[in-house]
Amino acid sequence: MNPASPHRATAATVRISAKAGLFTESVIREMTRLALQYNAINLSQGFPDFPAPAEIKRAAQEAIAADINQYAITWGAKSLRNAIAEKFQCWQGITVDPEREITVCCGSTEAMMSSMMAIINPGDEVVVFEPFYENYGPDAILSGATPRFVKLYPPDWTFDPAELAAAFGPATKAIILNTPNNPTGKVFERAELESIRDLCVRWNAYAITDEIYEHMLYDGAKHISMATLGGMRERTITINALSKTYSVTGWRVGWAIAAPEVTSAIRKVHDFLTVGAAAPLQEAGALALKFPDSYYETLASEYLARRDRLLGILADAGFHCFKPHGAYYIMTDISSFGFPDDIAFAKYLVKEIGIAAVPGSSFYQNPADGCTHLRFTFCKTEKTFQAAAERLAKFKPGRAAGSK
Ligand SMILES: Cc1ncc(COP(=O)(O)O)c(C=O)c1O
Repeated sequence: MNPASPHRATAATVRISAKAGLFTESVIREMTRLALQYNAINLSQGFPDFPAPAEIKRAAQEAIAADINQYAITWGAKSLRNAIAEKFQCWQGITVDPEREITVCCGSTEAMMSSMMAIINPGDEVVVFEPFYENYGPDAILSGATPRFVKLYPPDWTFDPAELAAAFGPATKAIILNTPNNPTGKVFERAELESIRDLCVRWNAYAITDEIYEHMLYDGAKHISMATLGGMRERTITINALSKTYSVTGWRVGWAIAAPEVTSAIRKVHDFLTVGAAAPLQEAGALALKFPDSYYETLASEYLARRDRLLGILADAGFHCFKPHGAYYIMTDISSFGFPDDIAFAKYLVKEIGIAAVPGSSFYQNPADGCTHLRFTFCKTEKTFQAAAERLAKFKPGRAAGSK
């Protein structure tokens, strides 16, 4: 091709934005690609390899057949918003107005992005617990916020209240909270949420809470929505999605619940970003949110069994595991294996052993802070666990690290 052709971008013509230059592609999704390339078992990205519930698949098919195929109302089909409000009332005891306080988005990913773009001004800071779900870094950059990271310390992933207090100040616009937490499996307790609440109230900050793992709870852990705490109803943006609870990560249906003035801003951003989430899938979502309690009990008990299965497999292979009490990930400590860092180890595992996991550094601002961690997901079938166990049986840590 002629290098001068206008169709070919050369070094001189490529002029990407400063913001886009500030972050890399998702490491988690890159691991999924490597898993495909090396035919590895994918224990990296959090999507189930088992079927979604038959009822909601049928509801989606019926919605398409009934020609619910055009744009839904931009901020969400009425049936889905009503179902979201009913479920929030039923599980968290909070009454929300589906006409003024809910915005349905393309997954919780877009709900988070639209929410941040709706409240952030240049110079605003957001407090983020670290390790963090990797999207929050680019979310902050794209919305123009400056992140202030506060460490969660293993083994229980607790934070130092003094460090949290020091991260808040006059420039703080919000804290991003993810409970139950990815990647640590921590479920924030009431006393912790109260100390966060006190800081939000003191500094007039929002809490943006990502609650997409709300039903994956183990060992008696309880999920408490930040919005239920005194003083937080008006200053919380609660984010959730169909993705994890109903095993439909590819549907891209999520939502943000917030006070009416905040919702108006979120709806405007959302409208111009994506117009709306898939209309027929919103109808199926409305049905899913009405599932009986037994659905959620079964979901949690099946995930508990999967958690224990993967904990056993990893322990047998010599991993030091931090037992999660929520969500569907296991953080491990890999320092005893003798690899230079988490990336080298993750690459070795995917290429030589055939297991894909996520390097811990992708959950930290400073990669060095996560270089002794690797994250595995357990939203998988017994067949996958069996294959993973067989492959990991080939893993001889001392020899592997020494030979690389
Ligand atoms: C904490 C957290 N938030 C959001 C998402 C993405 O959710 P969605 O598929 O609804 O955009 C994930 C996916 O792994 C996640 O772990």
